[in-house]
Amino acid sequence: MNLTELNRIATAMVAPGKGILAADESSGTIKKRFDAIGVESTEGNRRDYREMLFRSREAMSQYISGVILYDETIWQDAKDGTPLVKLIEQSGAIPGIKVDEGTQALPMCPGELVTVGLDKLAERLKKYYERGARFAKWRAVIDIGSGIPSMTAIGVNAHALARYAALCQAAQIVPIVEPEVLMDGDHDIDRCYEVTTRVLNKTFQELRVQRVALEGMVLKPNMAISGKKCAKQAPVEEVAEKTIRLLKACVPAAVPGIAFLSGGQSDEEATAHLNAMHKLGPLPWGLTFSYGRALQAAPQKAWSGKAENVAAGQSAFSHRARMNGLASKGEWQSSLEKKAA
Ligand code: 13P
Repeated sequence: MNLTELNRIATAMVAPGKGILAADESSGTIKKRFDAIGVESTEGNRRDYREMLFRSREAMSQYISGVILYDETIWQDAKDGTPLVKLIEQSGAIPGIKVDEGTQALPMCPGELVTVGLDKLAERLKKYYERGARFAKWRAVIDIGSGIPSMTAIGVNAHALARYAALCQAAQIVPIVEPEVLMDGDHDIDRCYEVTTRVLNKTFQELRVQRVALEGMVLKPNMAISGKKCAKQAPVEEVAEKTIRLLKACVPAAVPGIAFLSGGQSDEEATAHLNAMHKLGPLPWGLTFSYGRALQAAPQKAWSGKAENVAAGQSAFSHRARMNGLASKGEWQSSLEKKAA
């Protein structure tokens, strides 16, 4: 393992002004997104859509540090035969790959999930590296509800995250460690804070036990935020203040960067929250976005599967990428959104 090189890549992934495009929707998830815009989820349509994003020159060269791909996409070529991975490299961004194989029900723990995919991971990582991937992602899912999460679910998911991270570093790939506490319930922000604290503490404990080099990884957490169904929604400043307090308490400064998931926040909320956190600096790690929905909802709608809408889709993507790029430096203002609308 060359830790200096892992650290260089992790640092580039969270460079100020830039963040990560999570374009690694599984076949099931991208079908849901395409259903919403009335597009059939064929291999060709998925390729055309992602090619549109990766050819968005302004977004990719100025605001996107890396792209998380799904297995199908990393092996696909653009219409003109150029591998999609090459398009990403040519734009100056770093290709990455989602390597978990989704979730399964956790035995003995009703309503809880464990992420799977460790078997044969070492061999898969070798092939992904040869294809150009320099970082990877593994997502654990923790749900908040009555009597959950259990310490069992937190423990097995943290263990798997650390096993994955160690395998990545041995393969010279930077692991994005993503323990996502879902925002789907009716819990308040303080319950999210408390559960996320337990999850992050357990995750870092496992990372240490399994000898993962913290300098060569990126953390992808949820924010401390109210559940979507909670009657009392915490305002932007409270989300920012509590998230930074939580991360400072749980994430060692040796970690080069933190890149948030959007998790179902609206586009503008996800941007406003990141921006507000940068007003609370200086921070001990790079802090940016690794958004899926909050970067792609607008371009998906603008594109709607039509070749004549590619320019509109790219412009919608570039706008969101620029807004989040500014937020990653604390330089975003809501008036910039209105001007573009
Ligand atoms: P969202 O930003 O849509 O939550 O997706 C990010 C991601 O990669 C989840 O694993």
